[in-house]
Amino acid sequence: MPDETAISSIHGLIGEAGFARLVGAFYRQVPADDILGRLYPPDDLVEAEQRLRDFLIFRFGGSDRYLHRRGHPQLRGRHVPFAIDARVRDRWVLLMDHALQEAELPGAAIAIMQPFLHEIATFLINRGPSPGLVN
Ligand code: HEM
Repeated sequence: MPDETAISSIHGLIGEAGFARLVGAFYRQVPADDILGRLYPPDDLVEAEQRLRDFLIFRFGGSDRYLHRRGHPQLRGRHVPFAIDARVRDRWVLLMDHALQEAELPGAAIAIMQPFLHEIATFLINRGPSPGLVN
């Protein structure tokens, strides 16, 4: 996991516009995806996009709008209603990797964001065997 200083520097590197491009590129792929398309609320994707964007802006060193709108992130708790096994996690990561490329972010930002996002995705697995948690 990249260190906290590196993580908090991302907002300064890509700005809110960078997060908007990234999350826009991610959600554009969701409706047609055979795995994730069924998990996300079809009529609420615009707001789902805003929630993820605000969270990432907050977590990567920008405005804390997410906290004011949504309260403490509690990511594991908020994902409990969605069955996330290793296959679902891998698909989320694949779409996010595509989005990281499509958003044309600086390589230095991708190098920090990619492992961070992969790790949180693994941490959110809540069904079946969990990679990092098996002995
Ligand atoms: C592991 C695969 C993942 C799946 C299948 C998944 C799925 C979902 C779904 C279906 C929602 C509800 C959409 C909405 O109405 O907001 C959601 C919300 C959210 N997800 Fe994920 N997610 C995954 C990974 C992640 C990761 C890695 C992050 C953070 C880096 C994340 C951050 C969020 C946030 C911030 C919300 C909105 C929470 C709220 O304020 O209600 N998710 N996710």
